[in-house]
Amino acid sequence: MKLSLFHTSPALLFIILFQTLNPQPTSAYLSTSGRWIVNESGQRVKLACANWPSHLAPVLAEGLSKSPLDAISKLIGSMGFNCVRLTWPLYLVTNSSYAKLTVRQSFQGLGLNVSLDGLTRNNGWILDKMLIEAYQAVVANLGSNNIMVILDNHITQPGWCCDNNDGNGFFWDRFFNPHEWLAGLSRMARLFNGVTNVVGMSLRNELRGPKQNVPVWYEYMPRGAEVVHQANPNVLVILSGLSFDNDLSFLSNHEVKLSFSSKLVHEVHWYAFSNTDTWSNQNANDACGSITSNIMRKAGFILSKGTPLFMSEWGIDQRGGKRNDNRYSSCALAALAAMDLDWALWALQGSYYLREGILDEEEVYGAMNLDWSGPRNATFLHRLASIKSPFQGPGLNNPLNKVLYHPKTGLCIVQDSSTNSLLHLGPCDSPRGWKYNGQNIQLVNSDLFIKESGAGQPVTLTSFADNDSFKWNLISNSKLHISSQTNLCLDIGSDGNTLITNPCNCISRDKNCDPEGQWFKMVPSNRPVQ
Ligand SMILES: *[C@@H]1O[C@H](CO)[C@@H](O)[C@H](O)[C@H]1NC(C)=O
Ligand SMILES: *[C@@H]1O[C@H](CO)[C@@H](O)[C@H](O)[C@H]1NC(C)=O
Ligand SMILES: *[C@@H]1O[C@H](CO)[C@@H](O)[C@H](O)[C@H]1NC(C)=O
Ligand SMILES: *[C@@H]1O[C@H](CO)[C@@H](O)[C@H](O)[C@H]1NC(C)=O
Ligand SMILES: *[C@@H]1O[C@H](CO)[C@@H](O)[C@H](O)[C@H]1NC(C)=O
Repeated sequence: MKLSLFHTSPALLFIILFQTLNPQPTSAYLSTSGRWIVNESGQRVKLACANWPSHLAPVLAEGLSKSPLDAISKLIGSMGFNCVRLTWPLYLVTNSSYAKLTVRQSFQGLGLNVSLDGLTRNNGWILDKMLIEAYQAVVANLGSNNIMVILDNHITQPGWCCDNNDGNGFFWDRFFNPHEWLAGLSRMARLFNGVTNVVGMSLRNELRGPKQNVPVWYEYMPRGAEVVHQANPNVLVILSGLSFDNDLSFLSNHEVKLSFSSKLVHEVHWYAFSNTDTWSNQNANDACGSITSNIMRKAGFILSKGTPLFMSEWGIDQRGGKRNDNRYSSCALAALAAMDLDWALWALQGSYYLREGILDEEEVYGAMNLDWSGPRNATFLHRLASIKSPFQGPGLNNPLNKVLYHPKTGLCIVQDSSTNSLLHLGPCDSPRGWKYNGQNIQLVNSDLFIKESGAGQPVTLTSFADNDSFKWNLISNSKLHISSQTNLCLDIGSDGNTLITNPCNCISRDKNCDPEGQWFKMVPSNRPVQ
């Protein structure tokens, strides 16, 4: 049976999703090998995480009033994540008024009666645990479900983050005493020493604000890394850049010097709103081109220095109605796939107990739905399936090819098994491999090439002839359109599945049209090919 994902029911789609997303085995301790994160046998482990906040006012992982902890952990795994970036506020381990609080007292103190009722129903056992014990219980349960954890110091005071002027943004801000921070990191690292699913620590989220500066970054971030390593030599130490973790450019000519090796990772954040309205005010190809090169300049270059880069926050409004987010998401997925980055989606949570004064606020960026019973948008999660496992890296020994990746669907081009000469969308775990010489696109291990056959027509796989219908260029500022000599671009047919050509659209100027359907990325890959 040839499955077109677009003609299947949501229930079937969800089953397909579960089958495609078989989690990679987690491993005890990770380290780095060049730009890759590897396990103890030196094989690449790709972090495919979801952010799970535990840093807001109640200081408890969100959602436990809606669903049993174990059910949430299992859903995280079945949604295809192998890891959670679990946030914590510094006060959890440095401020005695939090150290002495039980979960029940914390919720009572905030008047969160409805959440308390829900906690009693779904996770009653947690109510009389101290906040730190509850945090440990969440980590342990994730571990028993084979989910890795990155401990992320998100903020000092419990509460919603992050603002330039919230006093939590940079060393020596009102609530950011570096010595308290170092002590807290050390405590947290020691507490989780020996907990094998804790594979890394994000030392401080989104450094920012009027006091941020490079010399002070170098004064404290390496010290943070050292105290963590001393207390727990197993974990990766993950260092954020400046300007809400959008800018690591200062690292290009001044590397971080540490007393230990093979544990340093950098993190970067990328949202549509990082570039305000650029995505909808400009032509989408121009926006994607300029913003991607900006990301490369400010963070992507880290890879070429031989250090892993973890895109530890990115995400969109999953209701699908935001043009900024939709354009950004296809462009960002193309970059995430091409760089083969480790990543963490913002976010897991379908809702918050209390955010900025609002009870039970919904998180429309959340993978979970409002009542934490399942995914908010299975289609969006399916788009992530292809970037969940490695394209490249130690352990993948197949020949290096290119796969044709379609970020709008998250699928790759595969060959039609009945006709052989037609191509369509299919899973990226057994795609077709291609070679591209700047002009012709050849199916590897064959003498077949992609040929254009006119507007609205399927492209075919045909023996090579030295004529224009075999010549393809990467065009537009995004370089995500693959165009023939007659300005026809690769596209997906109205069946939602077949690879065809159509007139290239939205190439420049026009800011009101959406080209994502014609965006394809040639992603370097050592995956086995079809
Ligand atoms: C390392 O990862 C590879 C690939 O996922 C896996 O086969 C292997 O068992 C892992 N080794 C350890 C020590 O976890
Ligand atoms: C501890 O937390 C409380 C409540 O947020 C705060 O008022 C107090 O100033 C904090 N104490 C220290 C020493 O930071
Ligand atoms: C919450 O419960 C407490 C104790 O049962 C009660 O005193 C308080 O009035 C309740 N608050 C709200 C907002 O319902
Ligand atoms: C789900 O996400 C997809 C792709 O990101 C989007 O096109 C769609 O509108 C969303 N659907 C719902 C019901 O939110
Ligand atoms: C190019 O070559 C193909 C395959 O031999 C042939 O079908 C097609 O008509 C040729 N196109 C042109 C424009 O010559």
